[in-house]
Amino acid sequence: MTHREEGERTNSQAHSRRVAIVGAGYVGLSSSVCLAELGHVVHAVDIDARRVAGLQQAVSPIFEPGLDDLLAKHRTTDRLRFTTSIGRAMKGAEFVFLCVATPAGANGAMDLSQVRAAAVAVAARLPARTQTVVVIKSTLPVGSADEIEALMREHAPAAEFTLITNPEFLREGRAVYDVFHPDRIVIGTNDEGSAAELANLYAGLEATLFVTDRRSAELIKQASNAFLATKISFANQLAELCERVDADVEVVAKGMGLDPRIGAGHLRAGLGFGGSCLPKDVEGLRASAIAAGVDLKLLEAVQEVNRRQRTRTIERLAEALGGLAGKQIGMWGLAFKEDTDDLRDAPALDIIKQLRSMGVSGIRAYDPQAMGAAMLMIPGVELCTDLYAAVRGADAVLLVTPWPEFKEASFGRVEALMRGKVLFDGRNQLDGAAVQAAGLDYWSVGRRHVDAASSPGRQPIEAETISATER
Ligand code: NAD
Ligand code: UGA
Repeated sequence: MTHREEGERTNSQAHSRRVAIVGAGYVGLSSSVCLAELGHVVHAVDIDARRVAGLQQAVSPIFEPGLDDLLAKHRTTDRLRFTTSIGRAMKGAEFVFLCVATPAGANGAMDLSQVRAAAVAVAARLPARTQTVVVIKSTLPVGSADEIEALMREHAPAAEFTLITNPEFLREGRAVYDVFHPDRIVIGTNDEGSAAELANLYAGLEATLFVTDRRSAELIKQASNAFLATKISFANQLAELCERVDADVEVVAKGMGLDPRIGAGHLRAGLGFGGSCLPKDVEGLRASAIAAGVDLKLLEAVQEVNRRQRTRTIERLAEALGGLAGKQIGMWGLAFKEDTDDLRDAPALDIIKQLRSMGVSGIRAYDPQAMGAAMLMIPGVELCTDLYAAVRGADAVLLVTPWPEFKEASFGRVEALMRGKVLFDGRNQLDGAAVQAAGLDYWSVGRRHVDAASSPGRQPIEAETISATER
């Protein structure tokens, strides 16, 4: 099938269908509340009994803006239920969504064990003589849907089902917003009828519908993440150049982003990309390309720049402090990005490891949402209750996650609490002039260590001009 594209869809007459969701994580939960909100009856299953017990009380296991409200709402509509029994979840289901994790496995290839196990469990419960549409939302390497379908048919030779690849493009911290406002809905299948059924399930969402074959759909997802990572590494490499030639990477990125062919999104220099997706999808795409005999060298450079960006930050911090041995460091933020409590592959984990290996005397840290996860994942760091407690006695403060509350800090109070004077803004988030006015020494990324605000030719561009191209 060649791809078929349709323009904006505004059809709001979704006919109520029964949907089973397998895996109640970021993607499964966001899809669940979205489909329930569109009028469908959703039954989500997860193997984590604690997670399910919480969800049955409308308690979200993850911090995601808007999620709690929708869980509470659909507890009363009775259109959204949670269970640990896959049989119960699939009873009467016309659609089954696979939303389990696909983490990095050995040799960089994705670990598909959760998808395989979930697919086998689903296959065993597919009814005979009734057509079910099985939808893979998990991110898979190209060719995997064919393998999963074969596995399911082997376990359920009599079952009648179609397997569709329907990758998810939501961002953490914006998951609920993104599932209600997708840029595009990509449907990978050779079965026109099932594609139309799935498209109808999403009736009510405004998005470009893009129907293609399964392999292309799988690659669209991985390549999109790899390209976003490439933009970030490009900005980070440019940042190093800007530091040397006395330019400002923020201004350069904004100027570049005004060209709609480039786009302003994902050009923010900083500590590099982390999280559960970009790093493993870049690695996963490289691994499946190598298996196909193609070496995606560009992506190797993207990863190298990403690693180096964290090391460079430590080197510059050491330069600012005249060495790190015996120094006390305050860390603002731990999560891999703002508006999430997710610490998976967060740059903070690497930074902490590197700081320790350089002999710092102690690290005090604060994150508005990730403290629970940090208690489990980051031993040996003193976790603080607010941003001021984290800077007490610090020789330097390093901003790691761009939470808005760090922008609003009283820098005078910060200066009074610190032992030293270095405030290193690892995300170019703070008002450098305000930091310096409080008597602190402001360091940032991709700008030579000078008072950036007073340097001519570096005025920020009007916000309205930027928003036209920025996602
Ligand atoms: P997650 O780890 O948050 O959630 C996965 C859930 O599946 C867990 O709750 C786990 O207990 C459950 N699970 C595992 N095996 C199961 C089984 N056999 N039956 C029932 N439940 C089972 O994962 P996630 O972040 O939602 O990611 C899911 C997939 O979507 C991955 O492939 C990921 O790459 C992709 N994706 C993630 C995001 C994101 O922002 N997190 C965005 C787009 C795509
Ligand atoms: C990313 C993609 O943006 C989503 O489209 C995709 O669906 C998702 O991965 C996925 O497949 O799971 P997410 O990981 O939530 O979403 O977060 P991003 O906003 O892409 O940020 C990823 C990392 O890059 C973060 O550490 C962030 O701080 C960093 N980043 C982002 C930058 O350093 N600079 C930027 O300009 C943007």
